[in-house]
Amino acid sequence: MARRRMVYEGKAKILYEGPEPGTLIQYFKDDATAGNGAKKDVVEGKGVLNNRISEHVMTGLNAIGVPTHFIRRLNMREQLVRAVEMIPLEIVVRNVAAGSLSTRLGIEEGTPLPRPIIEFYLKDDALGDPMVTEEHIIAFNWAAQQDIDDIISLALRVNDFMSGMMMGVGIRLIDFKIEIGRHWEGDFHRLVVADEISPDSCRLWDAKSGDKLDKDVFRRDLGSIADTYSEVAQRLGIMPRPGERTEGKRGPKLVH
Ligand SMILES: Nc1ncnc2c1ncn2[C@@H]1O[C@H](COP(=O)(O)OP(=O)(O)O)[C@@H](O)[C@H]1O
Ligand SMILES: [Mg+2]
Repeated sequence: MARRRMVYEGKAKILYEGPEPGTLIQYFKDDATAGNGAKKDVVEGKGVLNNRISEHVMTGLNAIGVPTHFIRRLNMREQLVRAVEMIPLEIVVRNVAAGSLSTRLGIEEGTPLPRPIIEFYLKDDALGDPMVTEEHIIAFNWAAQQDIDDIISLALRVNDFMSGMMMGVGIRLIDFKIEIGRHWEGDFHRLVVADEISPDSCRLWDAKSGDKLDKDVFRRDLGSIADTYSEVAQRLGIMPRPGERTEGKRGPKLVH
C-alpha cells in the first residue's frame, strides 16, 4: 500500500491527503502545548478524546445547518474533513471574562459579559498570534468585509449551539476559539467551521463548582487533563464512564 502523503504537521494535529480530491485526514496527536509552545507535554489519550469531542460538536453543528469541514470520523484518532482554504485568523468568542481578556483589561475572571464579545487574532506562531481588528483584516486582505460579517454570524451561531449543549450537561461555556475556511464550489466559496472544537480550544467551567474542565488545567497545572477531558466526553454521553454498560443507555447525562 502506498504511504499517504503528509500535508502539514501542527502542534496538535497532522493533516494527510484524503482518499478523494478535496478531502484531508486530520490525525489528532497526544501532544499538549500552551503559551504558543512554551509549555509542552504528551498526554496519553488526549488525541482520542479531542477527535471524539470535536466530531460530536461538528456533527451537531452540521445538523442545525452551520456548515463545517467535518465529513466523518475514520477511527479513534482520525477524521475525514473537507480541505478548505484557511482564513489566517483565530476567532475567539467570550461569554465570561477569563484569560487574556482579564489580564489585559483588568476584569476579574468569572465576570459575566453583557454580550458575547468576538475577538480576532492573526494565526501566526512566529508573532505569537497577535490580536487584530477588522481594519487590519481588511487592509491586509486576510478577509473581506462580507467574510467578516459571515464569520461573526457563524461564530455567534456556534456560541449559541455550544452554550446550550454544554449547559445541558452542567458546563458553562466561558469562551472558545474557532478557525474558519473557505470551501470553494466553482467560482463561489462559502465559509465553514474548520479545525477542531474541543476542550483544547474552549474554556469550560463546571456549572456548580466552577471547576475548570479545559486546557487551563494543563496551562495552570491544576491536575490531569486526560481525566478532565474524559469527564467532558462522559457528560456529553460520547464515552462511557469506567464500568458503565453502554448498550442502550448512551446519551448525555442530564443535569437538573
Ligand atoms: N479543513 C481544513 N483544511 C485545511 N486546513 C485545515 C483544515 N482544518 C484545519 N486546518 C489547519 O490544519 C492545522 C491543524 O493542525 P494544528 O496542530 O492545530 O496546527 P497549528 O499548530 O498550526 O495550530 C491548522 O493549521 C489548521 O488551520
Ligand atoms: Mg491548532
